Amino acid sequence: MSQFVIDATAIAYLVAAVLFIMALRGLSHPETSRRGNLYGMIGMTIAVATTVLNPSVMSYTEILVALVLGGAVGLVIARRVPMTAMPELVAAFHSLVGLAAVLVAAGALENPVSYGIADSSGAIFTSSRIEMSIGAAIGAITFSGSIIAFLKLRGTMSGKPILLPARHLINLAIGAAIIAGVVLFVQDQNATIAGVPVFYALTLLAFIIGFLLIVPIGGADMPVVVSMLNSYSGWAAAGIGFTLQNNALIVTGALVGSSGAILSYIMCKGMNRSFISVIAGGFGGDEAAGPAAAAGDKSVRQGSSEDASFILSNASKVIIVPGYGLAVAQAQHALREMADKLKEEGVEVKYAIHPVAGRMPGHMNVLLAEANVPYDEVFELEDINSEFQTADAAFVIGANDVTNPVAKSDPSSPIYGMPVLDVENAKTVLFVKRSLSPGYAGVDNELFYRDNTMMLFGDAKAMVEGVVKALE
Ligand code: TAP
Repeated sequence: MSQFVIDATAIAYLVAAVLFIMALRGLSHPETSRRGNLYGMIGMTIAVATTVLNPSVMSYTEILVALVLGGAVGLVIARRVPMTAMPELVAAFHSLVGLAAVLVAAGALENPVSYGIADSSGAIFTSSRIEMSIGAAIGAITFSGSIIAFLKLRGTMSGKPILLPARHLINLAIGAAIIAGVVLFVQDQNATIAGVPVFYALTLLAFIIGFLLIVPIGGADMPVVVSMLNSYSGWAAAGIGFTLQNNALIVTGALVGSSGAILSYIMCKGMNRSFISVIAGGFGGDEAAGPAAAAGDKSVRQGSSEDASFILSNASKVIIVPGYGLAVAQAQHALREMADKLKEEGVEVKYAIHPVAGRMPGHMNVLLAEANVPYDEVFELEDINSEFQTADAAFVIGANDVTNPVAKSDPSSPIYGMPVLDVENAKTVLFVKRSLSPGYAGVDNELFYRDNTMMLFGDAKAMVEGVVKALE
């Protein structure tokens, strides 16, 4: 390869890497997220084009078939997937990244000279043996773990934790065997011959441990798991990058790896769970506490859309608290219409967003942005929590756990310590939901039974449309 091609490739990859960093920066705020997405798309186009146009490519047939097929499948899926199914889609995609890492490592092992990772006798360099074995192990864990996460999120597999006896011991033993396999493989100078069975054995064990690690984790923790697997898939990609000596892949993998890890940390903080307790599994097993069990003989005050419209139009300040049910009902457009009507009547309207409202970080921000809710009306938990006491009404729509005061009062509750929105401090709390069912954590919400609460039972979209009609 000429020096010019080497230099041009390095510069193009550098530009792509800078664009990826700008994409991440842009995606961190709703106002700049579209631009961020665009940077990411341009960066990816540059990276793929640079790789495909490299003169060392020997045949375009397979590449074109893969690009067309993969692109078409991606396009169809992206157009069809509802927002609420995004975490499971991400999990499915991660499994492919993991599998790709395993396949590239296996391909390099079988053909080390053409990958440029071995000397002329065919002995693979030590550094490459380290990257390949660790990359393949992480990739295999990502693959099987993501498949379980996908099945759990999709509901094909029960979201309840499946707790195998002595699971910690089994996992420790398999983990130790994988590490031993990596050490053996790395130490084997002539890895092309004796190292092959060790490589496949450690990869197989990694597939098994990926499955065993995710099975005990409950559905409620799956978004954290998906983001953790996102991080793994990034490190696996960085591993492939080393094997293929591709700088763009190393940088992109490291970006995905670290941003996934940071996201998992933010989610754990938002739920006041430790990362270790998520990984240890077992959370979310009490979801059997259904509506009847939860309600007991306590009574609730029930209202209609007309009642809600009366309370809201007579308020001077209303804080809207959206949650997962808003996404399910796709009620964001009707909600904005309701807010517009209230503003026309001189009511001050604000939105309070909990960091883990919905099923993924930023879920509610995306929904509200979709309905063109002005960004300056949307506030994070810590910026608005003290304002509930000055609000005449809190309009909680499809949210539940993120308002549950038990998180502040009952140390035995699974959500104890999770920061929550203090909606009960508003003069009136209006709860839009279909029943008294608990939220994702499976915990009853005592706010439903308080004197200043009015339950508005029904689908979020239908209820808000009713309120809009009544306001007219
Ligand atoms: P949830 O506590 O899950 O409550 C959502 C409520 O929406 C449910 O109680 C449900 O009650 C109601 N609902 C569902 N469909 C509806 C519809 N069509 N119309 C009206 N209401 C509907 O949601 P949240 O308050 O947003 O809390 C999020 C939960 O997810 C937290 O427990 C959080 O820890 C967990 N979680 C979130 C994340 C991220 S990153 N966001 C990550 C991991 C875990 P009905 O069935 O009675 O209607």
